Amino acid sequence: MLHDMSLCVKRGDLISIIGPSGCGKSTFLRCLNFLEIPDSGTIRIRDVEIDKLDGQNWNRAQERRAHKLRAHVGMVFQSFNLFPHRTVLDNVMMAPRAVKNASPSEIEPLARSLLAKVGLEGLAARYPATLSGGQQQRAAIARALAMKPAVMLYDEPTSALDPELAEEVLQVMRRLDEEGMTQIVVTHDMRFARAASDRVLYVEGGRIIESGDPEELFAAPEDQRTRRFLRSLL
Ligand SMILES: Nc1ncnc2c1ncn2[C@@H]1O[C@H](COP(=O)(O)OP(=O)(O)OP(=O)(O)O)[C@@H](O)[C@H]1O
Ligand SMILES: [Mg+2]
Repeated sequence: MLHDMSLCVKRGDLISIIGPSGCGKSTFLRCLNFLEIPDSGTIRIRDVEIDKLDGQNWNRAQERRAHKLRAHVGMVFQSFNLFPHRTVLDNVMMAPRAVKNASPSEIEPLARSLLAKVGLEGLAARYPATLSGGQQQRAAIARALAMKPAVMLYDEPTSALDPELAEEVLQVMRRLDEEGMTQIVVTHDMRFARAASDRVLYVEGGRIIESGDPEELFAAPEDQRTRRFLRSLL
């Protein structure tokens, strides 16, 4: 259950969301993408706004707009979720081909350039099962980028990875940040949240308890609940 969660993200910002297990981090991300329909509120991404939300009375017109809004959002999960029977290249090409009805020759250059961007240029023909977890996650990022999203959402993208593989993924996210991509990241990696974010949100009990500059929030949290959480990690 979320309560009064309000967030305005500037284009190009990287926002980290931290908080204890079960506090609502995943639910919040899922609402942004309408994988979950909020009971009330407004969600706006670029030119698409869905207001007077009411999960009990979700209608066709709202579903159509949600569909439009989802096209602006790239989502990456903890568990990679690549299609196992498709090559890495096919995984990246599938969504733009389906949605834009484009031929492979139109989409392939973009897909290959995205694979290069995430450091997988040599692995386009491989199947997901033959890649490391870090490589699979980078392929999942390339796949999300193929739809040219306005914002990327990540739900614990590195939680299933060993530290060095996690680092490869975080590096890709830092690079996207430098290129001006807007990103919202749910993470348990406090070092990344502190070093890479423009802003950190501490969530507990379905509420944003504190939000601010990462250096300030980690060094001198204002709310005692944030302090308690950060202390519990030491
Ligand atoms: N589909 C659902 N229906 C009802 N309750 C749910 C549903 N999904 C999650 N919840 C509950 O909502 C709360 C928030 O869950 P959520 O998965 O968003 O937490 P989280 O912060 O992502 O936790 P974690 O760090 O463990 O991933 C939890 O109490 C959870 O049990
Ligand atoms: Mg979660």
